[in-house]
Amino acid sequence: MSDIERTEFEVPESPVDPHRHQGDTDLEKSLRPKSLNDFIGQPKVREQLHLVLSGARQRGVTPDHILLSGPPGLGKTTMAMIVAQELGTSLRMTSGPALERAGDLAAMLSNIMEGDVLFIDEIHRIARPAEEMLYMAMEDFRIDVIVGKGPGATSIPLEIPPFTLVGATTRAGMLTGPLRDRFGFTAQMEFYDTEDLTQVVTRAAAILGVDIADDAAVEIASRSRGTPRIANRLLRRVRDYADVHADGHVDLDATRGALEVFDVDDLGLDRLDRAVLDALIRGHGGGPVGVNTLAIAVGEESTTVEEVCEPYLVRAGLMSRTGRGRVATAAAWYHLGLTPPEGTPGAL
Ligand SMILES: Nc1ncnc2c1ncn2[C@@H]1O[C@H](COP(=O)(O)OP(=O)(O)O)[C@@H](O)[C@H]1O
Ligand SMILES: [Mg+2]
Repeated sequence: MSDIERTEFEVPESPVDPHRHQGDTDLEKSLRPKSLNDFIGQPKVREQLHLVLSGARQRGVTPDHILLSGPPGLGKTTMAMIVAQELGTSLRMTSGPALERAGDLAAMLSNIMEGDVLFIDEIHRIARPAEEMLYMAMEDFRIDVIVGKGPGATSIPLEIPPFTLVGATTRAGMLTGPLRDRFGFTAQMEFYDTEDLTQVVTRAAAILGVDIADDAAVEIASRSRGTPRIANRLLRRVRDYADVHADGHVDLDATRGALEVFDVDDLGLDRLDRAVLDALIRGHGGGPVGVNTLAIAVGEESTTVEEVCEPYLVRAGLMSRTGRGRVATAAAWYHLGLTPPEGTPGAL
């Protein structure tokens, strides 16, 4: 697991977990779109970034600092690489957790060349002293480097050539005000619709040399929870299955067979998601019930239930979070093959 994406909590690897898994790393490299034009979906973000980048290019200045915000697996790292690519400059990558001391950031900044893109992933996790140094670097393109310790310590000003900071965060709400204010442009990445994800799957299949039927691509897309990383991963699982059972041809049958083996249902729920719904409905009459109770019932950490399962259950309209606890919607009852009690929101 990459320490950049997975340090807060560990969950068993599920094919529909949007965080990066060990096995994703190499393939993701080859599947990343290399230009704004190749980037599928996110029309608003693409249009806005195009304006920010070409405006700066025309005026011959470095573009404003850019914040990319959104859930894991939607293309933030990919977009950061594209920004550098479009500007024709080099990309220097680091992450919030890697910047523990101001000195860690100073080392990065002192290597920067004019016009470079500095990418800080998970920027909400940057340590405080580094963050304060970053304010100055972003605003004035200079920092104060402290040399020595105690009463003899001196501060040496260091000029930094103009650069563009690209920050990525899954938790924009955790950014401090002063840091957020120093970004000239914030792009909010949204979940993808099935049409866009079908294109993601078709494109990835072409790059990987997978022979895939159109309806199979739609099927994979519709079970991928709005997330390209999951779409690409499911494609790989389905390809494995098709290699064994269908001479490598990915058709609808092979897709359904593979996703059954990997416990991904027609809404893209995995076993843990269904266990949570089951605990909520069969165990607690549909709620309201607290997240800790649900977590104990399924034998998981409550952070896992809260950060991995719930966002998608809520987005898929299966669960709502209320002041009194989690409540199952009628759709959730139907999904488990049950009839919701009268008065359940959304009951037919
Ligand atoms: N718009 C897109 N079109 C095609 N592939 C995409 C797109 N966005 C993301 N991907 C793929 O999904 C994977 C995860 O993207 P990444 O940029 O690492 O997401 P994030 O940094 O937001 O977690 C990458 O391998 C990339 O190939
Ligand atoms: Mg990333």
